[in-house]
Amino acid sequence: MLDSGIKLQKEIFIKTYGCQMNVYDSLRMEELFTPFGYNISENYDNADLVILNTCHIREKAAEKVYSELGKINITKKKLRENGKHMVVAVAGCVAQAEGDQIVKRAPYVDIVVGPQSYHNLPSIVKKIQNNEDVDKVCLEFIEEEKFDHLSTDRSNNNVSAFLSVQEGCDKFCTYCVVPYTRGAEFSRPVQKIMDEAKKLVDGGAKEINLLGQNVNGYHGVDDKGNPVSLGRLIMMLEGVSGLERIRYTTSHPSDMHDELYEAHAVCSKLMPYLHLPVQSGSNNVLKLMNRKHDRDEYIKAIEKLRVARPDLAFSSDFIVGFPGETDQDFEDTMSLVREIKYSGCFSFKFSPRPGTPAELYEDQIAEEVKSARLAKLQELLNEQQYEFNKTFFGKELDILFERVQGDKIMGRSPYLQPVFVNKEEGLLNQIRKVKITKAGPHSLNAELV
Ligand code: 5AD
Ligand code: SF4
Repeated sequence: MLDSGIKLQKEIFIKTYGCQMNVYDSLRMEELFTPFGYNISENYDNADLVILNTCHIREKAAEKVYSELGKINITKKKLRENGKHMVVAVAGCVAQAEGDQIVKRAPYVDIVVGPQSYHNLPSIVKKIQNNEDVDKVCLEFIEEEKFDHLSTDRSNNNVSAFLSVQEGCDKFCTYCVVPYTRGAEFSRPVQKIMDEAKKLVDGGAKEINLLGQNVNGYHGVDDKGNPVSLGRLIMMLEGVSGLERIRYTTSHPSDMHDELYEAHAVCSKLMPYLHLPVQSGSNNVLKLMNRKHDRDEYIKAIEKLRVARPDLAFSSDFIVGFPGETDQDFEDTMSLVREIKYSGCFSFKFSPRPGTPAELYEDQIAEEVKSARLAKLQELLNEQQYEFNKTFFGKELDILFERVQGDKIMGRSPYLQPVFVNKEEGLLNQIRKVKITKAGPHSLNAELV
């Protein structure tokens, strides 16, 4: 922070919960503070500013925040005894959903800031540090404004970078908090996305993961005001030199469109992996969930994608134990999984979320039934993931190496599998061909070719 012309080094600690959108937002928060002399810290032991960037999607995720806040307060008190003021901020979806409640439950929290208003953080923090009065809770919903206030520096991103192209959701699935915490769908203009993509590549990114709560519902405009779909946007990004890989997440089955199928067929940089959540294989449950697509429509979308790109690997999210889910409904989910054959999925027990319609549905499912169904589904999904991995044994794959882990370097295959090779100088951040020497249930081992 600039104080009497002297730049004082301060420490910021950010903990990120939940989805990749939060990871993206946390990086933007770091960028907001670095010009003011803040260094990123790995822990909050001596932090001037702690931000918890939170997730509200399931109850467990929200409760974790309160337990972390309790621990942070112990450190905050200790620092205060030494005359240091640690500012504690809660950002993200718990902040948006619970607002004032957070300050009531954890009065030592200094700031509560929603996903669309975190660009205000530096000015609020500065006021607190100057002992000025502030509104503790800042939850405005002006999407465009946020992006206009964020730094355009993209040098703190990894070789695999996130780029937010769309936010919010108008789908209102009956179990989901996102339409309430992230607000209405909003697509960023094409030019801003292209500029950010080029900056990411200049900063060393070789892979860009386009993010949106409903990313394939993207409908931005180009400089002439013409509408642009996600498929078209990917075709434009295909032309960015230095960019090697494109991914996008998370998609909704009813927003698949012709240009997106085409992009999978013609864009060599678009990776052959798609996270396309179905949630349930039962038409009854899909209706109760207000998913706006049925089982057959989902299967048809997958079939079309496999025609466009035959080696496309699929993943999905599943919710088991949705209110009213019968044994037969659950069996429909199991049979859909057997039919599609996934490369790896995420599955959850239904968690009633405050303010969503499904929270109030009758026929809530008993916890033991939910647990038994989840175990059965996860056994099948794990089997499929292992089968998928085994098909690569002895084969060659291009891997983007992202991270050192002990004496190994971890990279990602085009199908998003984690692949480990022995540590070697100069490998990090490169795309290299490997031969798979071992296929495990969750990852692959390989050697350089
Ligand atoms: N209970 C359980 N899982 C949920 N998800 C969203 N809301 C809930 C809920 N209330 C899951 C969905 C979604 C993923 C991000 O989280 O499967 O796709
Ligand atoms: Fe939530 Fe449904 Fe929107 Fe996905 S599509 S964010 S599950 S409301």
